[in-house]
Amino acid sequence: MRPNLVELRGLTVAFDGTPVLHGIDLDVAPGEALGLVGESGCGKSVTWLAALGLLPGKATVTGSVKVVGREMLGRPRPVLEGIRGGRIAMIFQDPSSSLNPVLKVGRQIVEALRLHRGLVGQAAKAEAIRLLDLVGIPDASRRFDIFPHEFSGGQSQRVMIAMALAGQPDLLIADEPTTALDATIQAQILDLLAALRAETGMATVFISHDLGAVSQVCERVCVMYSGRIVEAGPIDTLFEAPRHPYTRGLFDAIPRLDGPRARLIPIPGTVPNPKDMPSGCAFSPRCARSSDACNESVPALVAQAEGRSLACRNPVPGQPVKPTRQKLLEAVL
Ligand SMILES: Nc1ncnc2c1ncn2[C@@H]1O[C@H](COP(=O)(O)OP(=O)(O)OP(=O)(O)O)[C@@H](O)[C@H]1O
Ligand SMILES: [Mg+2]
Repeated sequence: MRPNLVELRGLTVAFDGTPVLHGIDLDVAPGEALGLVGESGCGKSVTWLAALGLLPGKATVTGSVKVVGREMLGRPRPVLEGIRGGRIAMIFQDPSSSLNPVLKVGRQIVEALRLHRGLVGQAAKAEAIRLLDLVGIPDASRRFDIFPHEFSGGQSQRVMIAMALAGQPDLLIADEPTTALDATIQAQILDLLAALRAETGMATVFISHDLGAVSQVCERVCVMYSGRIVEAGPIDTLFEAPRHPYTRGLFDAIPRLDGPRARLIPIPGTVPNPKDMPSGCAFSPRCARSSDACNESVPALVAQAEGRSLACRNPVPGQPVKPTRQKLLEAVL
């Protein structure tokens, strides 16, 4: 079996002493498409910015981040860049903040090609045009020489993807790559990400608050709430029977094409402020299934059947859950 590309263990982040990430355990296998979902402020972006060493100095990060078995946390930036190399690329949430507005788009891609693959001159230009073409920029050779502001939002997003592909990464982290786009362009970008993954075999982490979008491109999904993973598993398993009331709430809030038409039910309330966290389960104040025990301590993320893991004391009833081998062993010992 090939080793995991990335392994996060007990990853925590605090800003100015306020914890926002409370111990994330997460693996990304070569070639897999993993979704990370949750409402705004749940810690989706911070998880990956911390993993890649891209948070500002005021952030305190603890735990372990291994890339192909090598520890990244606490390493100086040049060492870190050496380990990460061109292996992992990230498309950031706001493309306008990631493209340099005063440099022509082609130049920026050429620079990425020089950095990651040592390409220069005509070879670099030809490859940059090929990448722009690949991500669906019409008339790429002519548009090589224009500035970022001359592209539409959807095209900027495509340019960002082209830049990310310049290093031929093994893992592409796409942080809300479609949030700012209209529904048609959003669908095109999702198709593009799926096609690129099929063509290159790279793994993809797709960050979104939209469980519907995630289900189109991912095989496995992690649901985050208030800096923790609360449920994770194969997308089909979660779709069939979401067990965490928060996952269930996210599903109830998206329109479904299959089955009878049902009213969309938003989850009441909002994500708590990290400075003012409830005791026990952070979702408890918004949860219809909450009981006194839920407010006593934070439930651990426990492995279940069918590759699911769940952190809830009072889950939504599903099919009878088969105990895992580990659980059986624990019961015997
Ligand atoms: N640079 C920062 N300084 C201080 N707090 C921050 C910083 N970046 C993020 N946070 C806080 O960390 C928490 C997690 O933020 P994060 O950006 O990871 O959320 P997210 O799940 O990506 O949300 P969104 O869907 O809005 O992008 C939030 O409470 C946020 O306010
Ligand atoms: Mg974010």
